[in-house]
Amino acid sequence: MELPVVDLFPYLSASGDLTSDLVALCSEVSRSLTETGALLIKDPRCSVQDNDRFIDMMEKYFESPQEFKSRQERPQLHYQVGVTPERVEVPRSLVDEEMQEKVKVMPKEHQPHTPVGPDLKWRYFWRIGSRPSNTRFQELNSEPVIPEGFSEWKETMDSWGYKMISAIEVVAEMAAVGFGLPKDAFTSLMKQGPHLLAPTGSDLKKYGQEDTVFAGYHYDLNFLTIHGRSRFPGLNIWLRSGQKVEVKVPIGCLLIQTGKQIEWLTAGHCVAGMHEVVATKRTLEAIKRAQEEKRSLWRVSSTLFAHIASDAVLKPLGHFAESPLASQYPPTYAGEYVEQELAVINLKGKK
Ligand SMILES: [Fe+2]
Repeated sequence: MELPVVDLFPYLSASGDLTSDLVALCSEVSRSLTETGALLIKDPRCSVQDNDRFIDMMEKYFESPQEFKSRQERPQLHYQVGVTPERVEVPRSLVDEEMQEKVKVMPKEHQPHTPVGPDLKWRYFWRIGSRPSNTRFQELNSEPVIPEGFSEWKETMDSWGYKMISAIEVVAEMAAVGFGLPKDAFTSLMKQGPHLLAPTGSDLKKYGQEDTVFAGYHYDLNFLTIHGRSRFPGLNIWLRSGQKVEVKVPIGCLLIQTGKQIEWLTAGHCVAGMHEVVATKRTLEAIKRAQEEKRSLWRVSSTLFAHIASDAVLKPLGHFAESPLASQYPPTYAGEYVEQELAVINLKGKK
């Protein structure tokens, strides 16, 4: 199954009122997010060169020795800035019994890989955008970490991060229109959110065997997640129907995925998309090509997690408040919800 690609250009270049064509485009955005938990977009502001520059720098970083990378670890800050080494983050499916039961009754061909322990991927967290000076959730909003010797770090991270957040903001506006909500229903709640640019690095030299799990079956706890195209495939997503799909991101496109916060705001109309990253046959083919061309064997994902502001309240918006499922999504501070989730997946309270 091919995911639809929505070109943001017509929406970005429109001035004034939404024409019926633009409203139809917005409906395509909300429909894809609802039915597939994902959406492929083309944003003329995010070029292939931008993505390449970012991935080149992250490959160089992840290839650095372990002792160097450990200097950017901040376990006392729950790894919410700097680097998280491999084997720290626990996939939800390993600890969530309800999720395990649901997996057991899935048809065999759609079942996720079973993780045997914490994720094998490394991760770097770099915050994007400003933070509130006065907040109940200070620990989620800490100072950034810059590795020594990477003079281009701040500029590269910020420029790619701001481009990705701009793309998400447009998708969030279009989705709101598609859902029959005011255009700024989501974006007004995203202001000063703890958005994180969160590239991952998986060492395919060390873990390049088929079926290796880099990120076990899970959902994202944030609002929407966006990724540029990775140089190595391996992402599987689950559609609302339960069907498992290996994602192919066309060159020049970006992938959006739904997180738990959009599920909350829509009372479960749009659910958080389940996904995993594993070494597939296509990953192995890409490893072979990279070896022949003497390219890096680190699989970098250029991921950004867009969040609802920590001090904003998550609750079903507009007509979604009338949904029979609304009571399952009681008003909760976004920051409080994030803290609860981090405790489950092992990124909180580690000293
Ligand atoms: Fe994820």
